[in-house]
Amino acid sequence: MVVFGASGDLTRRKLLPAIFQLWCQNHLPESAAIIGYSRSEKTDESFRNELCDSIRNSLHCHQGLIDDSAWDAFASRIFYQQGAYDSPDDFAALSKRIEALNVERNAPGNCMHYLATPPSAFADIIRNLDCSSLARKGQSDPWSRIVIEKPFGTDLQSARDLNRIAREVFDEDQIFRIDHYLGKETVQNIMVLRFANSIFEHIWRHDYIDHIQITAAESLGVGSRGGYYDKSGALRDMVQNHLMHLLCLVAMEPPVTLTADAIRDEKVKVLNALRPIPPLCAANGVVRAQYSSGEINGKTEPGYRQAENVPTDSRTETFVAFKAHVDNWRWTGVPFYLRTGKRLPRRCTEISIHFEDIPQILFNRPPAGPLRPNVLTIRVQPNEGIALEFQTKAPGPAMNIEPLEMDFGYRESFGQAPPDAYQRLLLDAAVGDATLFTRSDEVEAAWAYVAPIIEGCSHDTAADMLQYPAGSWGPKEADELIQTDGNQWRLK
Ligand code: NDP
Ligand code: BG6
Repeated sequence: MVVFGASGDLTRRKLLPAIFQLWCQNHLPESAAIIGYSRSEKTDESFRNELCDSIRNSLHCHQGLIDDSAWDAFASRIFYQQGAYDSPDDFAALSKRIEALNVERNAPGNCMHYLATPPSAFADIIRNLDCSSLARKGQSDPWSRIVIEKPFGTDLQSARDLNRIAREVFDEDQIFRIDHYLGKETVQNIMVLRFANSIFEHIWRHDYIDHIQITAAESLGVGSRGGYYDKSGALRDMVQNHLMHLLCLVAMEPPVTLTADAIRDEKVKVLNALRPIPPLCAANGVVRAQYSSGEINGKTEPGYRQAENVPTDSRTETFVAFKAHVDNWRWTGVPFYLRTGKRLPRRCTEISIHFEDIPQILFNRPPAGPLRPNVLTIRVQPNEGIALEFQTKAPGPAMNIEPLEMDFGYRESFGQAPPDAYQRLLLDAAVGDATLFTRSDEVEAAWAYVAPIIEGCSHDTAADMLQYPAGSWGPKEADELIQTDGNQWRLK
């Protein structure tokens, strides 16, 4: 496996810890080798040491405890190759190194190319894989596959171009457009919740649902990723991919079968039914903001513009909130409120389904009422689980009604937290199963919806961007967005 962008945050914090776990679980062949490729200067040894430190710090590795003998065996399979993404010579050197490793390890020569760089480098890498014969179109023995990180392109046209370039060099079944949210157990469980239970599907529609909220909150800031992030912002980094997948899985019709294509067909229909937010409306209706310095968990954190590789006058959003509508029969009139941001008070991704109010008779009026409508919450992470909030009579002579929760937690029910998404997706790509990866038309449909929003926001003429202090739930404008409809964010 070759990981391009090996000096980056993803490789260090998520990818290599996941591969190490796969190694510990005996999922990797003896002859496996992982080559990190990026422009930064490193040796095999320094790369291994950096990874060892980050794997120790990784949450995925049992609170940092790693078995030294397993690490030593794994580390001997990690290599580093320095090179540029647009240099045919550097790719020729990479190709030679792979050949030598294959001979040395008597390996069959299968190769997975993992693009963990910003999207601006994807096309160069694919072209150079082609020129250096590291891409073998159609050939299945030995196979070569490409895994491409999100965001897949930077707008609709660049996504189309990237799809074209990738298909010139690889067959579609060799291309894996990854979105790690699809590998999360809680995300896969959305379909099970909806379609393996008879009670939910009947009420999963506008007649019974008032509105839906999707929040992906992070307490982390941009850290060392300014070079990538400042060119992306929350709309490209989170909304175009992770949030769109969550919305599709909540809103889609039951697929005809569980095949990858049947599921993706239904998701594309949702994307196509999204009411466009034209650039002019985006400029006013989409709340974008940037974190300023503030306190999280008792620690003062610097603002976004103070981060490494972020211009001090940057207008890139680290927070976005907006209202979406799915214009089909099932969802007519139901607003979907979407929100994501960095440096919010805590890490928490959840989807809440807010059911209709009951009539204002019987209990839903004084003295017992007004009552809170039922809410079904899917906790994607952390504390993964599902909760249903409903009303109950508190014991006693008076008619006191209190909201209670029925709560299912993965840890309590299955004895462990759900496995890491990257482990599952890397294994799937290794066996060639694309079910949990994104199809080309799905990516393009998501861009067709999000790109005009980005365009509108780029015409924002306000003197400065909205700011929110690190450790808050975003600017007050995000609260006003939902309050205008008489609703409140559930997480606040
Ligand atoms: P980083 O900025 O940390 O790392 C990217 C690496 O790519 C850098 O170390 C750099 O290595 C190389 N690079 C190539 N071109 C550029 C450029 N123009 N600007 C900056 N770096 C460049 O980003 P991440 O690792 O966080 O993200 C990489 C990709 O992974 C993105 O597409 C992101 O969406 C995706 N991703 C990230 C996740 C995360 O949690 N970090 C999770 C899921 C996906 P060098 O200079 O040494 O060549
Ligand atoms: C990545 C984004 O795709 O997802 C990051 O590039 C973000 O900015 C990350 O931090 C969040 O992933 P998770 O699994 O921690 O929710």
